[in-house]
Amino acid sequence: MDYQKILNTIESEMNYRDVEGKVASYIPELAKVDPRKFGMHIYCGDKQHFCFGDSDENFSIQSIAKVFSLSMAMILMGEDLWKRVDVEPSGDPFNSLTQLEYEQGVPRNPFINAGALVISDILVAQLEDPKQELLDFVRKITGNPEIDFDKKIAASEKSTGYRNIALVNYMKALGNIKCEVEPIVDFYFNLCSLSMSCKELAQAFMIYANKGKILDTGEEILTPTSVKRINALMQTCGFYDEAGEFSFEVGLPGKSGVGGGIVAIHPDQYSVAVWSPILNHKGNSELGMKALERLTTLSGLSVF
Ligand code: DON
Repeated sequence: MDYQKILNTIESEMNYRDVEGKVASYIPELAKVDPRKFGMHIYCGDKQHFCFGDSDENFSIQSIAKVFSLSMAMILMGEDLWKRVDVEPSGDPFNSLTQLEYEQGVPRNPFINAGALVISDILVAQLEDPKQELLDFVRKITGNPEIDFDKKIAASEKSTGYRNIALVNYMKALGNIKCEVEPIVDFYFNLCSLSMSCKELAQAFMIYANKGKILDTGEEILTPTSVKRINALMQTCGFYDEAGEFSFEVGLPGKSGVGGGIVAIHPDQYSVAVWSPILNHKGNSELGMKALERLTTLSGLSVF
């Protein structure tokens, strides 16, 4: 497969001027990002790399990081994790509070904000230094010891994070949060602020395309069963109330973030990351989704 040719075609077909959405602004620092940014990176199972555009530039990965925190919680808790968070698509926006009331504080899945906050509670309760252990985990699977939080983005989200603080308070009232609110949201805002490039994201997500093993070293980070579960959750819940549309158009497990990044994997074939900060009204990168649709259409390869 000539992935570079496919990427060149995608780059030449797409222009940020053709999309109608807007860069995220509810986190003030994100509103400053240049809407013209566009990059894509594919990392293949045979260790080849292909890319275009701004694929080496760091951006705020936001909800993509929820896949890393979920992975850490699965390693710590095994199947007991599913007593605290469910595995069903929500069909609601990522920051919705409504289902929690009639579902007794158990979030529908680990990728909506409520679910990621329960996962954060678990990590804060069980780890001595959760932020450092998160960095260690991401640095290890990426192979880059310099990956870090973006303190400005984390502080910016904290200054306007009333919905997430409300979610934690509400779930605590319903008995599904153990720690105090502040350390949980502090961990969560830092998690979402992780600053990575498309290249680094494609490298990190290779473990989900390679049955839980780091491609370069062969070290097993997650069991094949855990990887099956995480990929199933990305497929069914990775895009919130647009998960059906992403499956329909792209046909790969994936995860988006309001920084405009999307990662997707094709088991045994590749992991791919794309970044374009202009979001559609459901909070997912407009050009990113289009680029991935073209990738699976032009390559004739999806999981379906
Ligand atoms: O909690 C929030 O609202 C953000 N830190 C993350 C949201 C997000 O990335 C949703 N994904 N598309």
